[in-house]
Amino acid sequence: MNHSNSTVQKWSVSSRIFHWISAVLLLITWGMILLNENIGGSSYMSLHKAFGISLLCWMIARVINRLFTKAPPAAPAPKWQTGMAHLTHFALYAILIAMPIAGLLMSVYGGRPVDIFGVFQIPVFVTPDRGMARFYNDLHTDIIWPMIIIFTLLHIGAALYHQFIKKDNLIARMK
Ligand code: HEM
Ligand code: HEM
Repeated sequence: MNHSNSTVQKWSVSSRIFHWISAVLLLITWGMILLNENIGGSSYMSLHKAFGISLLCWMIARVINRLFTKAPPAAPAPKWQTGMAHLTHFALYAILIAMPIAGLLMSVYGGRPVDIFGVFQIPVFVTPDRGMARFYNDLHTDIIWPMIIIFTLLHIGAALYHQFIKKDNLIARMK
């Protein structure tokens, strides 16, 4: 590798921390669904909701961080690839915020308060409504979840392309 770490244009420390902790929170939130589906009981779904709300708070802080810190200049690439990267990054931000909001609205419209790690509860702050609960359930599972899968795979696929085909050390910018 002819790029030494000191010449790589890195993302700010805060952006790097926000990035990797978001990825871990997403993985855990999804993992709770897998445990819930395969083992069952009431605790994994409750943890799914608590981690999902944690990710929402983390993403809100991340947006604020993104607005106030400078992004490094785009890595050299054809215009369409830079455009795709920006679109994918924007989409990831938007859907990682929309997803937990849809989950929260599904729960409260279903008349269920949301327990946050046994520390406090988000109360039912709307008038329960089966139709609305169903709408946000469909949004959560049938629309936004497939979008998360698609954009995350595109994103990780692009990272692997840079790592193994272009070999331009792009991942070092986020490490
Ligand atoms: C970014 C955060 C979140 C992600 C990635 C996520 C992802 C998922 C996934 C993959 C499923 C299973 C869908 C399926 O059956 O195919 C699911 C179901 C569910 N999620 Fe989330 N979720 C998030 C946040 C939340 C939050 C914050 C809540 C509630 C406060 C919530 C409540 C639920 C409920 C109640 C279900 C079960 C729906 C059903 O079985 O019909 N989720 N979620
Ligand atoms: C193996 C997993 C992952 C790898 C290797 C990876 C790698 C990277 C790299 C190298 C960048 C910087 C690109 C550049 O400098 O142009 C980046 C940015 C970004 N990544 Fe990831 N990523 C991963 C997982 C994720 C996940 C799971 C998400 C969210 C679902 C995500 C969301 C983002 C966002 C939104 C940006 C734009 C940076 C910003 O504006 O804050 N990444 N990623």
